[in-house]
Amino acid sequence: MKKSNIEKKESHFFWNGRAGFGQAAGSRDLIAKELEIEAISKYIFDGMRVLDAGCGNGITAIEIAKKYNVNIVGFDFSEEMIKAAKALSSSTKLKGTIDYHVIDIT
Ligand SMILES: C[S@@+](CC[C@H](N)C(=O)[O-])C[C@H]1O[C@@H](n2cnc3c(N)ncnc32)[C@H](O)[C@@H]1O
Repeated sequence: MKKSNIEKKESHFFWNGRAGFGQAAGSRDLIAKELEIEAISKYIFDGMRVLDAGCGNGITAIEIAKKYNVNIVGFDFSEEMIKAAKALSSSTKLKGTIDYHVIDIT
């Protein structure tokens, strides 16, 4: 197996394993995450279409769709992250919409 395929398999396994970690699934640094969402939010306006590449369990997309009436497409190569994102979104009241897909950006 090529080295790049082995690395991809390991990282896919790693991210699938973190999908159940809730707010900490994408990063354990929750303060950095909050600052990141705050910084991104400055560039978002109602009516926008937003692409979240590597959306993880959707926490960033969800925070944005809670504040703005936007159409977000989120994708991630981890099926478990996308499952978690769909579950989290369905239990949250959103102004906008989010569609999730399992896609590998490579
Ligand atoms: C650091 S986490 C960030 C997750 C999310 N954006 C957040 O803010 O919580 C990186 C995400 O990228 C995804 N990812 C890594 N490589 C990918 C690839 N080749 N294609 C799609 N998603 C990928 C992982 O599964 C993981 O969910």
